[in-house]
Amino acid sequence: MSQSVSVVGLRKSYGSDADPLAVLEDVSFDVTAGEFVAIVGPSGCGKTTLLKSIAGIVDTDSGEIVTGQGPVTGPSDEIAMVFQDFRLLPWKTVLENVVMGLDIQPDRSDREAEGVAREWIETVGLAGSEQSYPSELSGGMKQRVGLARALAVDPDILLMDEPFGSLDAQTRDRLQTELLQLWNSEQTTILFVTHDISEAIYLADRILVISSKPATITAEFEVNLQRPRWGRRVEIEGSNEFERLRNRLRKKLGLTVER
Ligand SMILES: Nc1ncnc2c1ncn2[C@@H]1O[C@H](COP(=O)(O)OP(=O)(O)OP(=O)(O)O)[C@@H](O)[C@H]1O
Ligand SMILES: [Mg+2]
Repeated sequence: MSQSVSVVGLRKSYGSDADPLAVLEDVSFDVTAGEFVAIVGPSGCGKTTLLKSIAGIVDTDSGEIVTGQGPVTGPSDEIAMVFQDFRLLPWKTVLENVVMGLDIQPDRSDREAEGVAREWIETVGLAGSEQSYPSELSGGMKQRVGLARALAVDPDILLMDEPFGSLDAQTRDRLQTELLQLWNSEQTTILFVTHDISEAIYLADRILVISSKPATITAEFEVNLQRPRWGRRVEIEGSNEFERLRNRLRKKLGLTVER
């Protein structure tokens, strides 16, 4: 299942009333059910804060976040987030870390939860590592655990915060492809934050550009590249549409445009 998300006039600041740091200023956008939307913007501009607000795990100052189920007022299992820094508990095994994501669903027995967790561990390619601890895993494996933990709750909306940013190029390519295949079969709505323009184009239906401090949406680009895209990366990255989008995005982000 998938759901739409509407963000309306979202504002968020940190700090005290006397000394506030405005981070999000009047952020508004809509995502349709099943859409894959990428968000790009400069470092420190408020991307993580935006995703945490949508996940209902930080308080906002004003504005509204509404999904197909109604307003978001706190964390729920309809929305799951994959964190930039994995957020695994070092004293728990891979299996326990994934089961942890299911604790929010009280109607499920421990045995059922473990069964679901094992299935997702297998799906993300970690079968055999169930009893390993995070310290025994590579970065790519840790991110797979984070992904399994988020997907195990069967979310309608998946928020991904630079999930592949710290991985080597080969692992990143592989995980991008696997994500596209998963999205194709699960039909989840995905909001994917990245600072990698090529990654955004390869994955998304639409790309939102956000500006720095306070953050607001400054541009929006449709990605008119045929799907499915996996297995065609070289062709896609060599296409005119890819280059055209890449240059427009670079320009919008204040980067040099290459020919
Ligand atoms: N809990 C917090 N308390 C105070 N300030 C915070 C907090 N979290 C973030 N900030 C500040 O808010 C701003 C936006 O942070 P955020 O992490 O949302 O940016 P980001 O776009 O995700 O950055 P990056 O690209 O480095 O991941 C930064 O200036 C940061 O210092
Ligand atoms: Mg961030």
